[in-house]
Amino acid sequence: MKGIILHGGHGTRLRPLTHTGPKQLIKIANKPMSQYVLEDLRDAGIIDIAIIIGDVYPEKVKEFYGNGKKFGVNLTYIYQNKPHGIAHAISLCKDFIGENKFVVYLGDNILRTGLLSYVQKFESSSKEAQILLAEVENPSAFGVVKIKDNKILHIIEKPKEPPSNFAVIGVYFLTPKIFKIIKQLKPSWRGELEITEALQLLMDSGFELDHDYVTGWWKDTGTPNDILHANKLILESMSIEIKNTDGIFIGKNCIIDSESKIIGPVIIDDNCVISSSIIGPYVSIGKNSFLKNCQIKNSIIMDNCIIDTPIKIINSIIADETEINSSESKESTYLLGERSKIML
Ligand code: TTP
Repeated sequence: MKGIILHGGHGTRLRPLTHTGPKQLIKIANKPMSQYVLEDLRDAGIIDIAIIIGDVYPEKVKEFYGNGKKFGVNLTYIYQNKPHGIAHAISLCKDFIGENKFVVYLGDNILRTGLLSYVQKFESSSKEAQILLAEVENPSAFGVVKIKDNKILHIIEKPKEPPSNFAVIGVYFLTPKIFKIIKQLKPSWRGELEITEALQLLMDSGFELDHDYVTGWWKDTGTPNDILHANKLILESMSIEIKNTDGIFIGKNCIIDSESKIIGPVIIDDNCVISSSIIGPYVSIGKNSFLKNCQIKNSIIMDNCIIDTPIKIINSIIADETEINSSESKESTYLLGERSKIML
């Protein structure tokens, strides 16, 4: 089986973070979101992977993943000049896929359980497609299924009146049959070739769609709140998986003085200096950051940041090389792009 990671799109809901790079390289718990995706594929035995790169700093994706060797996979890069839709991105991979079954994984989806059992099931299946469903509170924001007697009857993209609370998540198991189907699609109202329409057409052509319900959590990280929620879920899961009871992960060469308090789950990358600060819970701090006199809760601070302020920073995402210097002590929430400067 081969894999496709979707790493294009514009990530408009994550601006200003996406003004300087693709959203899938934003780090959650100090790891780019698409690296979770790549590792899920690899751990399920899928090592021939194409990455769809778009028009938002595609060179940064190539620079980070290279030929894939250091991640244990073989990578091929395929350009999508504009985000014409998930089905359009898939159609660009026809030659790469050849006669193989394949799995498409959106680079901004994170699954707690990994892929192995679903991959094994699809490998021995005779179905032309297999999707994963998750129960959501806001089905109108997703592709939603109508199910009867455990059989999918319809898939509807972002319905005003959802037929169920089960959303189709961003992992699709497909065969080369889908390429012919995508050729028949017309752009939707938002100008995209929709994967949900392709799956519906596949069913209309007489093929049954297999499905599974995800166990454990799944997160689509399209908005700042989604990213903070994913950060919390990953930090909690790390603490359980590694049996680290205080949930505190500290990298190499960090200096944390005795006046600081770290409340897990928290991850701190290499070469950070923390003094007179209270950090946590649910905080990720990137490498080479310097924090002084601050209180930070439920937030992501990326690499090379300097934060010297008694402001209580909560629910914030602060990108690389940001500097905050202030004597104020109120509670604040920030969404700051790379190299921001706040002096109050
Ligand atoms: P979306 O989150 O729907 O789109 P987006 O990334 O452009 O974000 P926004 O709505 O905030 O502008 O895309 C889902 C995933 O699929 C994401 O990882 C980007 C990827 N994608 C492509 O690679 N090509 C495409 O044509 C589209 C539409 C999405």
